Amino acid sequence: MSKQLFHLNRAGVSLLIETSQGTPNVFYWGAALRAGVDPSQYLLGITEPVAHSYVDKPQRPGAWREHARAYWGRPAVLGHRDGKDWSQLFTLVSTTESEHGVSFISRDSDLGIEVEISYELSASGLVLMNHRVTNLAAGTFFLENSSAFLPLPDHATDILDFTGRWLKERQPQRSKINTGIWSRESREGRSGHDYTIVQFAMTEDANFQRGEVWGVSLAWSGQAQHIIEREPVGRTTIGAGELLMPGEVTLAQGETYQAPQVVGSYANDGIDGASHRLHQWVRARKQHPTNVRPRPVSLNVWEAVYFDHRLEKLTALAQVAKEIGVERFVLDDGWFGARRDDHAGLGDWTVAPEVWPNGLKPLIDTVKANGMEFGLWFEGEMINPDSDLYRAHPEWILHSANRTPIEARYQQVLDLSHEGAYNHVLGQVDAILTEYDIAYIKWDHNRTLVDAAHFGKATMRNQNIAIYRLFDELKRRHPGLEIESCASGGGRIDLGMVEHADRFWTSDDNDPLERQNIYRYTSIAIPPELLGTHIGPTHSHSTARTHTIGFRAITALWGHAGLEWDLTETTADERVLLREFTDYYKANRGLLHSGRVSRLDSIDGYSWTHGVVAQDGSRGIFAYIALGLSQYTEPKKLRLAGLEADGLYQVKLVNLAGQYESIQRTEPDWATGVTLDGRFLMSEGLRPPILKPEFGFLLEVVKVG
Ligand code: DGJ
Repeated sequence: MSKQLFHLNRAGVSLLIETSQGTPNVFYWGAALRAGVDPSQYLLGITEPVAHSYVDKPQRPGAWREHARAYWGRPAVLGHRDGKDWSQLFTLVSTTESEHGVSFISRDSDLGIEVEISYELSASGLVLMNHRVTNLAAGTFFLENSSAFLPLPDHATDILDFTGRWLKERQPQRSKINTGIWSRESREGRSGHDYTIVQFAMTEDANFQRGEVWGVSLAWSGQAQHIIEREPVGRTTIGAGELLMPGEVTLAQGETYQAPQVVGSYANDGIDGASHRLHQWVRARKQHPTNVRPRPVSLNVWEAVYFDHRLEKLTALAQVAKEIGVERFVLDDGWFGARRDDHAGLGDWTVAPEVWPNGLKPLIDTVKANGMEFGLWFEGEMINPDSDLYRAHPEWILHSANRTPIEARYQQVLDLSHEGAYNHVLGQVDAILTEYDIAYIKWDHNRTLVDAAHFGKATMRNQNIAIYRLFDELKRRHPGLEIESCASGGGRIDLGMVEHADRFWTSDDNDPLERQNIYRYTSIAIPPELLGTHIGPTHSHSTARTHTIGFRAITALWGHAGLEWDLTETTADERVLLREFTDYYKANRGLLHSGRVSRLDSIDGYSWTHGVVAQDGSRGIFAYIALGLSQYTEPKKLRLAGLEADGLYQVKLVNLAGQYESIQRTEPDWATGVTLDGRFLMSEGLRPPILKPEFGFLLEVVKVG
């Protein structure tokens, strides 16, 4: 008999899989189990009872969760052939083991459907699941869904996932696992502002530093579904899959649906432990931006000039940017076609002579002469009805039946399944990148998809595949090109886009108070160096709040940092502070973009701490932030995390770009330096000053013994 039990064990994580009922079944996912124990003993330990009023022989649903196995939860594969062949029963036909994984091919020979699923443990202990569905028989197989699941133990009681909207992405929501399905779905064609990125099941006590967490992410930028299900029999599972529209995937004989990768992140040291595994995985890629070069300080001119493009003004901006230490200058929306505001021009990716009579060269020359590289904005998947492209090819928009979809921001979506449309965008963007010296493009996507069909057939999936293909092709043609994924801020941030883009615009909200949450939770799945963080205008354009440069700087430091502000309006004193910020960022970005990220839960609800510690524990930087006025005269102590418990650390308080304001007569005794062991700093902590709301400071931590 061929092998029926598999124990994958790597980086502190174990995955146990058995095939005793003729189907691959993951029956344990959690902390690494002791090596050498016969895996059949584990199976023995969890054998299900034979209950009354139930099937005579308890079934283990396995990866495919078929109805034919008396499984009444949500099946992994949903589909039919002309109303039949919907109840598949897959039998294992082959198993292939690799160094850190195993893959299983199963078939329903009567129905002519073959499925394959592979499980692999990454070097950082993530479970990587890839699966496919192939139609082997004559007649079209209509695939409605195909998802991958992992088991959760009984002591996983809580759910944490993230919701959001424009200007307020990635807000946490915690709830209890109950019987039934908790499903987070994105149905807007892109992953969306509301995209959870990762959905966690957790133990009741779990927080950033403590407890067990089991996260699942769909690495995909299109429609998605993340599910936690508890069946009435008591089993609990977590899974994810692409959310397909009716008829979107139809498989002719011999055709295969390859599902997006599903990533499982387990940790027994809280959310930060799972986050660390995800970061390590993303960072291990050869093309990861910080494996190529440090992340340059950017100036994006959107909130500085909006559509008002004038060479003189932008030249002045470039000069101030140089003084402040900016390394990349990005020209945003408004340089092309008839795009003088957001009513027209999308689709016509040629420089507008009306605003740029001599092309972009004069500006690019100025930017380069001031020691910066140049970046440019596109929104290539979109088209304004008021554009030459639309007038020539109105049939190239995504649409269903004979109606025109509802406009959003006065625009429609180009159907990239038309080779003509795809080639138009690729050709025009390529021409600009060929003509000009452009290191970086910001690629926007400012509307949701409505009625998104290609000749009547839903095409969200193909649209997503096309944009991946387009990005990859642009990078192939222009080696070294960096792409930022933006979708009205953070509307397309996910682990699928990580493979094709190099930066995410985290949110259109540059208000540092709002940014605290947005950054904290987006960075759980996405490493900080991929998250754009800008110092915005003094008076926030999105909330009308006013903040000091210090508070804006201490917020913008924690990602791929930059500015987005009319710097020509700044005073000489402000420029000194901004220079301090960029100098600090440059001196520390190596650590900020490679260290282990820690987040501390707020004890009083008014303050919190987060930071990074070098992977070898030798140094770290933390931020202490006052979100509001503390309830207590003596504020709750600030604790650190991620240090070596027995290490001796020198801690120093650092004001970045301006002194914080406080409501006390003395400064903390430890402000100029204190040397303490990691255990004390992590368990007891330091007494912070009584900060005024919306101020903060940094702590530099160096291991001295
Ligand atoms: C939305 C983006 O998020 C902004 O940063 C800016 O690029 C505008 N679009 C331009 O239209």
